[in-house]
Amino acid sequence: MSTDQNKFQAIISHCKEYGFVFPSSEIYDGLSAVYDYGQYGSELKKNIKDYWWKSMTQLHENIVGIDAAIFMHPTTWKASGHVDNFSDPMIDNKDSKKRYRVDHLIEAYVETLPEAEGNAVLAQMDELLKENDFAGLKTLIEEKKITCSVSGTSNWTDVRQFNLMFSTQLGSVTDEANEIYLRPETAQGIFVNFLNVQKTGRMKVPFGIAQIGKAFRNEIVARQFIFRMREFEQMEMQFFVRPGTQKEWYEKWKEERMQWHLSLGTDPSKYRFKDHVKLAHYADAAVDIEFDFPIGFKEVEGIHSRGDFDLKQHQEYSKKKLQYFDTEINQNYVPYVIETSIGLDRMFLLTVCNAYEEQDLSTPEKADSRVVMKFPAKLAPIKLAVFPLTKKDGLPETAQLLVNECKQHFHCYYEEKDSIGKRYRRQDAIGTPFCVTVDHQTKEDGTVTIRYRDSMEQERVPLTEVKNIVLNKIM
Ligand code: GAP
Repeated sequence: MSTDQNKFQAIISHCKEYGFVFPSSEIYDGLSAVYDYGQYGSELKKNIKDYWWKSMTQLHENIVGIDAAIFMHPTTWKASGHVDNFSDPMIDNKDSKKRYRVDHLIEAYVETLPEAEGNAVLAQMDELLKENDFAGLKTLIEEKKITCSVSGTSNWTDVRQFNLMFSTQLGSVTDEANEIYLRPETAQGIFVNFLNVQKTGRMKVPFGIAQIGKAFRNEIVARQFIFRMREFEQMEMQFFVRPGTQKEWYEKWKEERMQWHLSLGTDPSKYRFKDHVKLAHYADAAVDIEFDFPIGFKEVEGIHSRGDFDLKQHQEYSKKKLQYFDTEINQNYVPYVIETSIGLDRMFLLTVCNAYEEQDLSTPEKADSRVVMKFPAKLAPIKLAVFPLTKKDGLPETAQLLVNECKQHFHCYYEEKDSIGKRYRRQDAIGTPFCVTVDHQTKEDGTVTIRYRDSMEQERVPLTEVKNIVLNKIM
């Protein structure tokens, strides 16, 4: 299996060193699979969110956004099937007491095998998962002599289901009636608001509701940095369609979502579709968009054809009709749903992995290198850095005026410390696409040097043009 663990480790270190991602509550040694976004990480994440939100809502007249609460009535999760079905097969090692998700344990073992052999094991695992054959999964683990990374033994319990939802108490009285869940997906907030939005927005099927928000899952094996977290964000869109048209819409959204990813300029060979072998309890067709991370091809986004499962379930449990009257065909029906669901943190990780480049810039005279984050300009945390060449002769004042003009429109950074070369390197490391230097010539002819991050080329442009040059690239 081709993975590049060294590159992945370098990216994790870079994210920490340059203020993108920190382990949560690090001064207390962190909290497993929970992370905080730093000063540049939170900007990058916000830009990804905005790019998705705009593409879904502003650019689609028939999609609107909502922002539902994280806490929902507990019956929501009974109706959605999460109380009974949102679980993963787990196995415990009797010696270390460590618990593993069965598919992750087998996948980690497969990483150590030659590709063809590994694929055969994965195919066997997929088949057993599809059949919910827990005894067969245990036999596979034992036959392959898969061991626990802590105890080194293969002394395993039986495979059991383990629910992934976090629960807590509402109010001050601790009893079962007050138990509520932290939502494991944002989608249910959309389903329960289906009629509110349809009626108040006078929406006509087909239409969509989009949402960005936190979700929580008690992932048992949470590893690989922000790839699998216990608290994460999803960007989901439920598209309500007339029954019978779901296949067509499923194909359309599959294509549209792939185009969204490619619109950020990523090499198409780094993406692929992967059909689900084992469908989630709500889906009648599902596909993942996978990206070639340094740890291998992994899921970033899912497109699911959910039928009328969710609305019908909520109808049954709430005893409220969740139907739509289609004036074109004079019929009442429960719409079918195509869902697009992308993890914001995964998209962040994708963006960081895709942008990270270590470059050797050595010449015969001098050893040199740089780490550059080649973010699409739209997503870069800082768009423009402005440097006065020296701290005197009025250069800082001119540079500051430029920052003041531009900061109304996009994020700028002003710096006057260290050599220009060092200042460029720091901006490369956080992915700033444009750096401008104000020097003595600026006072004479009103031009500045603009330096482009990826090519490192520099040219002189009128100071008054800088704002528009940057705006043109980030719109
Ligand atoms: N509403 C459908 C749904 O939640 P999912 O495939 O379970 O489907 C959708 O999740 C997306 O959410 C995934 O493709 C992934 O990007 C993200 N995601 C899921 N679990 C995650 C976790 N533990 N950490 C980070 N992202 C996660």
